[in-house]
Parts: sequence; structure tokens; C-alpha cells
Amino acid sequence: MRSFLACFEAACGAEYPVTEVIYNCPKCGGLLEVRYEGERGDPWTLKQTWRERRMSNQPLDQSGVWRYREMFPFLEDERHVMTLREGNTPLLDGCLAASYAGVRRIRFKHQGFNPTGSFKDNGMTAGTSQAVRLGMKRVACVSTGNTSASMAAYAAMAGLDPIILIPNGNIAFGKLGQALDYGAKTLQVEANFDQILALVRVLAEKLGIYLLNSVNPFRIEGQKSIVIEMMDQLDWEVPDWIVVPGGNLGNISAFGKGVREMLELGLIDRLPKFAVVQAEGASPFYEFMKDPKEGGFTANTHPETLATAIKIGDPVSWPKAWQTVGVNGVVEKASEQEIADAKAVIGRCGIGCEPASAATLAGIKKLVAAGRIGPEDRIVAVLTGNVLKDPDYIYRYHTGQLKDPAGRDLIGNFANPPVVVPNDVEVIAKLLGA
Ligand code: F0G
Repeated sequence: MRSFLACFEAACGAEYPVTEVIYNCPKCGGLLEVRYEGERGDPWTLKQTWRERRMSNQPLDQSGVWRYREMFPFLEDERHVMTLREGNTPLLDGCLAASYAGVRRIRFKHQGFNPTGSFKDNGMTAGTSQAVRLGMKRVACVSTGNTSASMAAYAAMAGLDPIILIPNGNIAFGKLGQALDYGAKTLQVEANFDQILALVRVLAEKLGIYLLNSVNPFRIEGQKSIVIEMMDQLDWEVPDWIVVPGGNLGNISAFGKGVREMLELGLIDRLPKFAVVQAEGASPFYEFMKDPKEGGFTANTHPETLATAIKIGDPVSWPKAWQTVGVNGVVEKASEQEIADAKAVIGRCGIGCEPASAATLAGIKKLVAAGRIGPEDRIVAVLTGNVLKDPDYIYRYHTGQLKDPAGRDLIGNFANPPVVVPNDVEVIAKLLGA
């Protein structure tokens, strides 16, 4: 099996060894992707092998990423794999969420069940393993919180030095706390995500630090496993829609590559449609997809949303996302109020998620109302992060203190505020209706 880096721009098509430390095409500046040449086995045998590995005690087999390693065979030596047993995330039925959106059924693929509580672990295990293989000593990323938490954990376990740069005051404490606990050198920069990405790219080059943002094509390889595991859990029955929040657009790029490769290998017999949902105040891809054309992408220089995970105005992977969504998909946007209510509804299902993840349900509701998603369509929505990532947001919503970025009050349509009571059995009993 040959693996190599290829320029994503078809007009360039340059190829590079998989061991070259590059993140963009040195010839044309285009994005890179990992490609493979050679036999990967027949689909029936692959599916059997992956099922059998679920009974194994081997770390690689226990990982919901590396179990599917035939789909991203870029490492030569499996000893380079750094795994925290990521993936293995469930498909959960959200009945209340389905009726809220006006459809028969929604299944949530909950990436918040990952070791550091977000989908980033699926990609980070791959990116960190590549860093180890390359002999890198330091790794870095800019992050709205989850990438940094994930990178810090994987780097710590791999014995690498993690350096994270985050927009000062703009990430949820759960995420910042994780990075500190995992021992990352943490720099809070007075700039937004997009500006810091430009900065960290220069620093990485200058200091020989390995960059682990989703511009790193090996992260994208790992994130393909989210849709591969999803299809495995659905017994390879392709859903009509896969719905995902969009920020830097790495995840949708990975999903698109993943399903195309599964179709090519005969693991699935058709492609799903994709719906990407952005927060209204940070929706440059939504704007672009209204009238997509070469050279027509305009960044939003002042992205704003309480869903800080997707507060990104200049998503680096938009060309790859376009490749996927442009063929058979749609982009929607959701307001702060819509995201907040959808999040509370997902909570009421006993599932819970962080704000950015709830953009999925808000988007589904709008797409159903617009007639784009049918009430009988089979839908899988990807919840990208754990409910505990941003408890401050939850508390504010339920206690009527949540304000949008412009300072306007949001309404707690599903608010469930805690009640302060005296230490008195009679009073409490009365309150509980006894
Ligand atoms: N949901 C959550 C919870 C995220 O943390 C992110 C991205 C996204 C959705 C969007 O995914 O960028 O692949 O389109 N968080 C990044 C970070 C940017 O730094 O943690 P995307």
C-alpha cells in the first residue's frame, strides 16, 4: 500500500512523500490530502475484520479509530500509534428532539463520549501518531477549545510538548481547564481564531513545531472514522442525511472524504446527503454556498456567537467542504436563540451536548420547515462535544441570564431554573406537591 500527500487543487495535482512536514502545497499553496494506492481488501472481509476486532483486547482494536485502520494506512509502524481508546461513540435516539424538529426519528452520533469529550480525539490520535512517526518534539494548535484539550491530552500521553494558543476570553472554561490539567503550555492571545491560525503557522515553521490544526491532513484521516463507525453501527445502511455543525470545516471535509472512499471500496452503495449548520454570526460558508463560485469566498472578519467552538470567520477547509456539500448537500445557519433552545431540547432527551453541537438540531428544524429534509428521512446528527464543556452557558440559559453577543436577552423557552428552598420538610413537600 502506497500512501502519499497530494495537492487538493486538481489543476496542480503535485504529490509529496507522506513524511514531508508540510500543511499546504509548496507549489500552489492548496490544501493537502492523504491518498493511497493499492489493494485494501474486499468489503465483506473488511467488515468482518472490523466486527471481530470489537472482541479484542489489543489497544488498536479497542480504538474506534484504529479498528478501521485499513481506511487510513499512512503509518508504516503501528508502534507509533497513540491511542486513548477514542471513538466508540454511540448512536442515540432523541425522541423529543425528533418531534421538536418535525421528523419521525433523529439519531445522534455523540462524539462527546470521546476521552476528552469531543470529536477532535478521532483526528488527534492520527495527527499525534504522525507527529511521533516524524520524530517531532513539540506540537501546537490554535483552538476554540476542543482541539487544544484534545491535543494536550494526546501530546501528554505521547511525551510531546503541547503548545496551545487560544483567543483570550473566548473559550469555555471546561476546555481551558482540560488543557491546563494535561500540562499544555497555554497562551491566551489577544486576537480571534482566524488571526491566531495565521500566527501559529508562522511560529510552527520558524520553530520547527508540528502543527495539529485541521489543516493537517492526518487529522482529517482520523476524523473519517466518525462516518465509518457510524455506517458500521447502521449495518452499512446509508442514512439520507448526516448533519454536522460547521466551524473551520475540517469535520465535514473528513466526512466527505470518508464516504467517498467507502463508496469506492464497495463498503456502502450510495452517498448520504450532508447538512452543515453554522451559527448565524459566524456563517461565511453559508453565505458562500448561496452562490458558490471560484474566487467567491469572503471571510467574516468579526465572527460572533455564544457557541464559541464554531466562532470562526475564515474556515481554512472551505474548498474541501465545498467539494462535499456542493455535490449533494446544503448549508443552513441558526440564530443564538435557535441554538440555545435546541440545546435544551437535546438535554431533555437525556443526551446533552455543548452549544455548537446543538446547531445540528436547530438546523434540522429549519430544513424540515423549508421542505428540504423530509419528515420520514433517516437522519444522523453529529453531536460534536460533551454537555460538560460549557456549564456556564447552561446555567445562564436556565436562569434567564443568557445574552447574545450584542447583549440582547435570550429567552429560556425550555428553562429549568433551580429553586432555593429553606431546610424545611413541610415547605419542600408542599413545593413537590406531596
Ligand atoms: N463542534 C465543536 C464542539 C467544535 O469544537 C468544533 C470546532 C466544531 C463543531 C466545528 O468543527 O471546525 O471541523 O468545522 N472546534 C475547533 C477547535 C475549531 O479549535 O476546537 P470544524
